[in-house]
Amino acid sequence: MTASHDASATPYGTLPPASPLPQRRPVSLPRLAQIRAAGEKIAMLTAYDATFAAVADAAGVECILVGDSLGMVCQGLPSTVGVTLDTMAYHTASVARGLHRAQGTAWLVADLPYGSYAESREQALRSACALMQAGAHMVKLEGGGWTAPTVEFLVQRGVPVCAHLGLTPQTVHALGGYRVQGRDDAAAQTLRRHALELQDAGAAMLVLEMVPAALAASLTAELPHCHSGTAGQVLVLHDMLGMNLGRMPKFVHDFMQGAGSVRGAIAAYVQAVKQGRFPDNALHAW
Ligand code: KIV
Repeated sequence: MTASHDASATPYGTLPPASPLPQRRPVSLPRLAQIRAAGEKIAMLTAYDATFAAVADAAGVECILVGDSLGMVCQGLPSTVGVTLDTMAYHTASVARGLHRAQGTAWLVADLPYGSYAESREQALRSACALMQAGAHMVKLEGGGWTAPTVEFLVQRGVPVCAHLGLTPQTVHALGGYRVQGRDDAAAQTLRRHALELQDAGAAMLVLEMVPAALAASLTAELPHCHSGTAGQVLVLHDMLGMNLGRMPKFVHDFMQGAGSVRGAIAAYVQAVKQGRFPDNALHAW
C-alpha cells in the first residue's frame, strides 16, 4: 500500500500547535456585555473535551459550558445527580487545554455539580476554586433563593458566577421530572424574585431553562441591569448534532441536517442564533 505523506497532518484529531495570534478577541465579561449592548445574540454550547471545544470555538461559539450534562452525555448516568466535582474538574481541564492549544477565544463556564455548593458558602468557594484552577472563567450553579448569599460570597471573592433558574436538572427528583417551569402566576413570581436576587448578588449571567418565552421576555425586561429579552442561547452539543437517540426535546434543533460536518453544523447554529432564527418561539418554546 502506498500513501502520500503530509508532514503537517497529525493523527488522532491532534489540535494544531499554538501559532499565530488569534484574529478574534478573547471573550471576557466586558466583551459579552458589549455584544449584548449591541443587540447581538450570544451563542453558547456545551463541550466536554478538548477537540469539540476547539471546533466549537473555531465555528464562532462565544461561550462554552462544561455542563454537568456530561453525566448523561459522557458517563451514561440517568441524571446529573451522580456527577462529582473531580469529574467536572477533569472535563474542564480538558476543554481549557483544547481551547488553549487551538488558540481559542471562548469564555469558559463550568458547572458546580450536585452537592458541591449546598452545604456552605465556604464549600461552594472551595468547589469553585477547583473548577477555576482547572481553567474555568466562570462557574454556574442552580437554583434561587438560598443560592443568592452563596453567589454574593463567590463574586466578592473574584469568582464570576452564572446562575441557572427554571428547570434545574440537579433537582429533577424534587421537581418531579423534566418539566416546563414558571407556568402559573405564583411560580412565575417566584422565578422573577429569584432572578432579581441573583442579579443583586452579582451573578453576571443567568441561564433560564424550560420557562415560557413570555416569562423569559418579561423577566429580563424587569431586571434593572438587563436589556429586554434573553441575551443568547445555549444547547447541549450532542443534542444539536442530532445525537440524542431519545425523543428530541422541543427546544432543540438538529443542526447536522444538511451541514456536512460538525464544524458546519455548529457554524449554522451560531448563525441561526445571531440572526434570531433560532430559537423560533413558535417551534422551540412554550
Ligand atoms: O449541564 C448543562 O448542559 C446545562 C445546560 C443544559 C444549560 O446546564
